[in-house]
Amino acid sequence: MKINMDLNQSISINTNECDWEASPQHGVLRKRLERAQEEEGHATSLVQYKPGASFNYHAHPNGEEILVLDGTFSDNSGHYKKGSYIRNPPGSEHAPYSKKGCILFVKLNQFSPQDNSRICIDTEKTPWLAGQGNLQVMPLHAFENEHVALVKWPANEHFQPHTHFGGEEIYVISGEFIDEHGRYPAGTWLRNPHMSQHNPFTEQETVILVKVGHLLT
Ligand SMILES: [Fe+2]
Ligand SMILES: [Fe+2]
Repeated sequence: MKINMDLNQSISINTNECDWEASPQHGVLRKRLERAQEEEGHATSLVQYKPGASFNYHAHPNGEEILVLDGTFSDNSGHYKKGSYIRNPPGSEHAPYSKKGCILFVKLNQFSPQDNSRICIDTEKTPWLAGQGNLQVMPLHAFENEHVALVKWPANEHFQPHTHFGGEEIYVISGEFIDEHGRYPAGTWLRNPHMSQHNPFTEQETVILVKVGHLLT
């Protein structure tokens, strides 16, 4: 079953309004945001590991990108607490688990085949850089057209109207992101297509995970 795979469509989902669904793995729940096939291929989800849950040893043919939103996620390579940004490149394998439980934002099988870097960044210990206006930016990854960053907006910041070449995908980590199309509280996932436009602003301090340039169709 395909979910939200028309990349020319604008989508926003407040994940707080979605129920956790069981996955094939006991103790692992998910909220499916986009999915190309039933249990493989391109998928973007929130994933919850209940305390003690584990996942079978598995491979990621086209990579796996994770932001740990809460708790601590573990696998055979280490322990990754809240704020960890992880990229497991195409061909990587692991057997993940969580001793005390965790919640993850996961993008599966969406890497460019040449994007082979294994990346692990503790965003809670990485300095913010000055961005446009009063924004602060934490670059996380760039490959070909794709750029991934955390962006911190102060309260009452207005950004200029802009066009997304290659589209824009956002997960609102804290605060509330706003544009002329709607209001997106913490926990909202947004995907706006190639050449979409908006004029975003905030009323309170807001932190978003942003990926741009990856939605060229
Ligand atoms: Fe995995
Ligand atoms: Fe934008």
